[in-house]
Amino acid sequence: MRSRSGAARRRPLDTDREAVIPEAPRQTPHPGRHRALLERYGFGLFPLPAYRAATVGDWRVVRYGPGPVEGYLPGLVMEPGRHVLHHGRTPWMSTSLMEQESHAFHIGQARGVVVVAGLGLAMYPYAAALKPEVEQVVVVERSPEVIAVVREAAGLGSGPLRDKLSVVEADALDSGLAARVEAETGGRAPDYLYADIWEDCGAPEAPLEAARMVEALRPEAAGWWGQELSFGAWCREAEREPDAAALEAYAGRVGAPLPAPEGYPAFCRDVIAARVPRRRRPRWSRLRWPRLRRRAGRRSPR
Ligand SMILES: C[S@@+](CC[C@H](N)C(=O)[O-])C[C@H]1O[C@@H](n2cnc3c(N)ncnc32)[C@H](O)[C@@H]1O
Repeated sequence: MRSRSGAARRRPLDTDREAVIPEAPRQTPHPGRHRALLERYGFGLFPLPAYRAATVGDWRVVRYGPGPVEGYLPGLVMEPGRHVLHHGRTPWMSTSLMEQESHAFHIGQARGVVVVAGLGLAMYPYAAALKPEVEQVVVVERSPEVIAVVREAAGLGSGPLRDKLSVVEADALDSGLAARVEAETGGRAPDYLYADIWEDCGAPEAPLEAARMVEALRPEAAGWWGQELSFGAWCREAEREPDAAALEAYAGRVGAPLPAPEGYPAFCRDVIAARVPRRRRPRWSRLRWPRLRRRAGRRSPR
């Protein structure tokens, strides 16, 4: 179960009338946030697929109406609506502002051959495939039901992106991953690998599992959903500022070629300040006089 769809408690709209998928990509529903991201960090939001309601077995894609939401970065905005992928009554993925802002950097990095672990609502693969500098997008998804329902909801099998985008039904953590992907790319190594297979943003297992995929696929550059939170937790632990040098050290530690273009360290810093809790120093270490601190420190277990 994914806990990431945020304010999905609103009632679904009647979606029976939204049957047509226009070929032209829609613009972002958050032009203000898009401009702010672009100005501050050098990458912005992206067009979403024109979803329609779809159901396959227990899975369905539903549209929800407007409401106030937080993004990945702080600040409340009015969301005109969102689509949510449900399994039974459980929301698994949504097109909320939080999801869009946490995907934005990685869409900016997409070029050449892109491999994506996790289809979800196909938000990332769709936006990546729209970029002229992206030649091919290969998605690895383990659930046949998700593939079927999202293919229908996002119109993946039709339209101008049909030839650029393919979906491989496989487990991205399986030892056969490289062979399955190479069969799609003709043996060419990915230019960018984007992994998003976890329920929680900044999941503790994400860096290790992303590094496993990197080892299997040897991409030129890579990233995973919520990596800013993983990086932030590491910085707090190592008592380092989340700057470009720390990002390079963290990439080396994880074993993943994380790109750090100008603007990205500032994005990390802002996300970390908003979302990663500060480590509280033990109370005795905040005492003013060194002797008192030493004496109290001896008593403290830390
Ligand atoms: C939140 S969704 C991804 C959202 C996607 N980034 C988007 O843009 O819509 C996560 C997806 O990963 C898939 N998944 C989970 N574990 C997986 C694994 N080991 N291998 C392949 N897919 C996996 C889930 O079935 C789900 O479709």
